[in-house]
Amino acid sequence: MKINQLLKIKYPLIQGSMARISTHKLVSAVSNAGGLGVLTSVGMDKDGLSDQIDQVRRETDNPFGVNLMLQQDNIYQLVEVLLEKKVPVVMTGAGTPAPYFDDLHQAGIKVIPVIPNVKLAQKMQDLGVDAVVAEGMESGGHIGQLTTMTLVPQVVDSVDLPVIAAGGIFDRRSVAASFILGASGVQVGTAFLGARETPIAKNYQQLVLKAGDTDTIVTGNSLRDKVRSLKTPLTEKVAQMEQTSSDDSEAQKLLVGSLGRAVYDGNVETGSFMSGTIAGEINQVRPAKEIIESMFQ
Ligand SMILES: Cc1cc2nc3c(=O)[nH]c(=O)nc-3n(C[C@H](O)[C@H](O)[C@H](O)COP(=O)(O)O)c2cc1C
Repeated sequence: MKINQLLKIKYPLIQGSMARISTHKLVSAVSNAGGLGVLTSVGMDKDGLSDQIDQVRRETDNPFGVNLMLQQDNIYQLVEVLLEKKVPVVMTGAGTPAPYFDDLHQAGIKVIPVIPNVKLAQKMQDLGVDAVVAEGMESGGHIGQLTTMTLVPQVVDSVDLPVIAAGGIFDRRSVAASFILGASGVQVGTAFLGARETPIAKNYQQLVLKAGDTDTIVTGNSLRDKVRSLKTPLTEKVAQMEQTSSDDSEAQKLLVGSLGRAVYDGNVETGSFMSGTIAGEINQVRPAKEIIESMFQ
């Protein structure tokens, strides 16, 4: 089943949640255009998330999702909001949604985890999730070890669930390639950094537009910490510190709060501008609707 049928949306496209970025304006623009907009809950308390969900509902009647990063300290409070508001879809990352899964599913909420390998995909299938997002390491933000090209078919062949491909998808060629690999839909992040409705500092958007194919860098020595961002003085310094020392705690300290400094202030010296390797193809600012339609012409 294609995920547009499963999620009752026009196009089989999910806007990947982006921490501190995918707030109501981008989410409702994507959902109004026929994709599934996904709200971030990173850095939000109960009232903040509740308010964002209400704003999305004021701006669109179409389905949308909310992302739960499972290591968040206030996760139980956020789950309460999702249950109260009966959001249509919950996308989870950074762990297993097992402790919350029954409550969410019994409330009629679809649960779709993001996974980086076959083992986790199978574990999620055993839990009873509705689909999985197989995210390759081309992606912006936290990444796993496998490329989209190698991860998607291996996940497709190992589970009996709709598999959504993520990592490097931005146009109709990459959407078509995802379907040929066996995916039932696509999840897209970096391409939406070029959306008119994306609420990021102008400087952030300009850095993405200017970036070339080799302008991202991965920081984090342990698999848990690996993050892809644009090359900037900060991320290059962090990567260099990590290379010269086996203890990367000093380097990791420099990254605390750095996404916020990029998103809100566009600060190139101290911000980390998460982005995928496909940034080299994102060359103009367009409405989210135009970005989506260009992928499904
Ligand atoms: C700036 C940025 C922030 C992200 N933040 C999150 C996040 O908070 N939670 C999450 O599950 N994925 C996050 N992602 C991953 C996206 O949801 C999506 O899976 C990924 O961007 C797809 O690959 P692409 O960037 O090549 O399109 C982020 C990606 C970017 C570019």
